Order: sequence, then structure tokens, then C-alpha cells
Amino acid sequence: MRDVAVIGTGMTPFGELWETPLRSLWAEAAIKAIDNAGIDSVDLITIGCMSSGLFTGQEHLASLLADELGMAGVPAARVESACASGGLAVRAGFAEVASGLSDTVLVTGVEKMTDVDGADATYALGTAADSEWEGFHGVTFPGLYAMLARVHMERFGTTREQLAHVAVKNHANGLLNPHAQYHLKVTIDDVLNATMVADPLRLLDCSPVTDGAAAVVLTTVERARAIAGDRPIVVIRGSGMATDTVTLANRADLCELNAVKLAGERAYAMAGKRPADIHVVEVHDCFSIAEICCIEALGFYERGQGGPATASGCTSLGGAMPVNTSGGLKSKGHPVGATGVAQAIEIFRQLRGEGGERQVKDAHVGLAQNMGGSGASSTVHVFERV
Ligand code: COA
Repeated sequence: MRDVAVIGTGMTPFGELWETPLRSLWAEAAIKAIDNAGIDSVDLITIGCMSSGLFTGQEHLASLLADELGMAGVPAARVESACASGGLAVRAGFAEVASGLSDTVLVTGVEKMTDVDGADATYALGTAADSEWEGFHGVTFPGLYAMLARVHMERFGTTREQLAHVAVKNHANGLLNPHAQYHLKVTIDDVLNATMVADPLRLLDCSPVTDGAAAVVLTTVERARAIAGDRPIVVIRGSGMATDTVTLANRADLCELNAVKLAGERAYAMAGKRPADIHVVEVHDCFSIAEICCIEALGFYERGQGGPATASGCTSLGGAMPVNTSGGLKSKGHPVGATGVAQAIEIFRQLRGEGGERQVKDAHVGLAQNMGGSGASSTVHVFERV
């Protein structure tokens, strides 16, 4: 396998972007990444998108979007793994360059979710759960993650306040990110008194419904060095992916995210790294409990210790293991197909020392974890500055 580097990034602001169609959102991120990389052609375009059909009535995205960029003729492929579609697009691009099939790949993710109303958005998202055994009975994602939270609280003594700390931290980080959907200072009391969505999860425990697009350019390390000159380059050291049951009830352990654990183990093994080697992390905090389960599944904390570690500030900016410096899905927003690519962008910028006010000091190894459904699919990528 060849070594693979990230050489350019671009993203739109995340938010409710009613006036911008899906194709324009996507093109804005793609053009920014191509400009940022300093290249003028690519061998392949990958597109992570969960459900453009249900959200905007548009399928056949790969050809549509290649043409939007004036690149009709270039191979393009859309990949889908629910909310992990962006992470899967990164992995698909990585595999193409690593295998030698392509030299330079434009990896993108996009979702335009606010053209439909809240009920239709909830329906579209719910198709990533088990339609027959979960959706048909009225369970939505907030409901599924609420069950997961209840089990975690019962088993490990995780408290309602510890969950609130995830939201407070991520909103504090999001205040420092100009691309974030919500620039809100949030207190523990705000979270504990927010509108109930699915007991015990309240409005401020949930990621929002978001429009946005993100893109990165991947190429060989040789080409990256030629383009970067004296600047440091960021390579993808490890890529892991795994699946779990879509149906939450079929899991042996309801609050263990086994796909995240397996994807993490595979990425660590490929990278030759351990959790202790990682300096900055983006995880899939679609709900506050998800961040706690993810940092445990990735081996940063023992099971049951994710809540106390968060409440003690270990995962805050300036803590021992900063998590979701971008503001995470909670504050930055969660345009589902774009999320995994945006996570890679945050890690890339942190490792290049371009994190601005949210820069983690001396970060040179980072990890991005993206997840579909209630953890039925996950990708993990380990990045290193060289
Ligand atoms: N965090 C903070 N504020 C939020 C928010 C969130 N997640 N979602 C909505 N808001 C705010 C809106 O900005 C709005 O504020 P305003 O009155 O000041 O304008 C207000 O809350 C009401 O917004 P609305 O869009 O009517 O909310 P809603 O009740 O329709 O939706 C949720 C709220 C939590 C149900 C929705 O955001 C949701 O479904 N989130 C989960 C998405 C999801 O499942 N993703 C996939 C994960 S696997």
C-alpha cells in the first residue's frame, strides 16, 4: 500500500442554508478544497451523502455533482452508510490512493436537510434505523439514544449532569469555530432545563438538523511533499471500518458501541498507534451519550469513566485529551453525509497548527471517528503530521 496524504480542505458554513441548493453547497466546498490543495485535476470524486432523495428529491448525485464542477467525464461515486457516509467517503478515497488505482482523489460529503420540515427530516433520518422493528413502532434516533443513555446510567452510574458537560464543552468549542451552526454559550442549567426530547435527553443533548458540505483532497505522500514545500504534511496512518446490528435490541450489550471499538482497533493496528499516542480527537456526538460511549469504545477511558472524565475537564480544550474541538456535531451541526469529512478537516487543521483559538498545543497525531445509526456502522481514521 502507498502512503496517503491530505493536501487540501474546504467546507461551507454549517447551518440552515435555505437559499443555497445542494449542488451549490457541494461545489463551494469542493472548489475551496481544490484551490486549497493547489491542483487543477483529480482522478476520482467520492461523495458521502445519506439521503439526498428523501431530503431534496435528488438521486444520481455522483454524475450531477461532477458535472456541476465542470468535471463530467471524471469517475465519481457516491457512498452511503447513514451518518457515517462522510467517513466512508474518506476511506474510499484513501483506499483508491493507497492501492494505486488513483493518484489524487477529491473526497466530499454533503447533506441538505432543512428543505423538508422536522417530521420529514425525522422520517428520513429514521430510515437508518431498523424500519420494521424500530421505525414502524415509532422509535426515532433521539429515542434509541435515550435507551442507550438509560442503560449506561443504570450500569455505570453515569449522571444527567455528566451528559450535560458534553453539551457545555462542545458549545464552548463551537463558539471558537466560525463554521459552526450554533454560536451559543450553554451552561449545565441550560442543558438540564432545556425542552425534553426523549427522556433523559433534552434539546441541548441533541445534534441539530443541518445543511452543509465538506471536502478534502487526498494524494500520494510524494505529490503532497512536492506541493507542500517546507510546510508539514498530514498523512492518514490508519483506516478502520466496522459494522454492528442495525437493531439496537439485537445487541448483546446495549451501551457498548462495538462497531466503534472494532473500527478503532483496526485503525490503531494499521497506524501502529495506541489510544495514548493520540493528541486530539473528533468523535460522533450526535447525542451527548454518544460522545461518552465513543471515547470509551475508542479506548481513551475505561467503560463507565467517560462521564466522569468529561465532567472533570479532561476532554475540554486544555485538558489531557481534547475531544471535539470543532464544537462537534452538537454545536458545529450535523449535515449527516458531510460530518465525517468535516471531522477529518478539523484534525488536519489541528495537526498543521491551523486551529486558531481552538488549537491544541503540540498536536501531531489525531483521530476522527464517524458513526451511522445507533452505532451500526463506524469509520475511524488516524492522522499524523510528518
Ligand atoms: N441544539 C440546540 N438548539 C436547537 C437544536 C439543537 N439540536 N435543534 C433545534 N434547536 C433550536 C432551533 O434553533 C430553534 O431555536 P429558535 O426558536 O431560537 O429559532 C428551536 O431550537 C426550535 O427548533 P426546531 O427546528 O423547531 O426544533 P425541533 O423541535 O423541530 O427539533 C430536535 C429539535 C432535537 C428534535 C432535532 O434537532 C433533531 O431531531 N435532532 C437530532 C437529529 C438526528 O437524529 N440526527 C441523526 C443522529 S444519529
